[in-house]
Amino acid sequence: MKITAVAFFLFAASLAYAGAPEGKAVFAAKCQACHGANGEGKASIAKMFNVTMHPLGSKEIQSMSDADIKKVVTEGHGKMKPVTGLDDKQVADVVAFVRTLKE
Ligand code: HEC
Repeated sequence: MKITAVAFFLFAASLAYAGAPEGKAVFAAKCQACHGANGEGKASIAKMFNVTMHPLGSKEIQSMSDADIKKVVTEGHGKMKPVTGLDDKQVADVVAFVRTLKE
């Protein structure tokens, strides 16, 4: 049982890692303009939308589940509009990339 759990964890971790390079490209194309290259958040965008943008590597964002982050991307959140033109894999990849930003 324990071994299965460890094996699953390693498998899941390797999947997350595998998604990151593609995710980086998706991030650069679809998120960076507002969130900045390292997810720090662009002050000009925050000012324009009149919101506080949490750095994507921050505890607030990293404590969200993958499903929650996916939902922000596909359905939008607050002032952020849904991001269009991404298939399921690209959404999963970009979430994997967001995980690499953890501070
Ligand atoms: C047009 C600008 C814009 C783009 C493009 C954009 N975002 Fe956002 N994002 C925002 C703003 C503004 C907020 C803050 C929204 C609020 O608090 O009302 C936000 C918030 C978030 C949050 C935090 C939600 C929360 O609960 O605080 C996550 C996660 C996020 N964005 C991920 C992404 C990802 C991943 C992409 C690319 C697939 C992306 N965003 C593209 C503007 C953008």
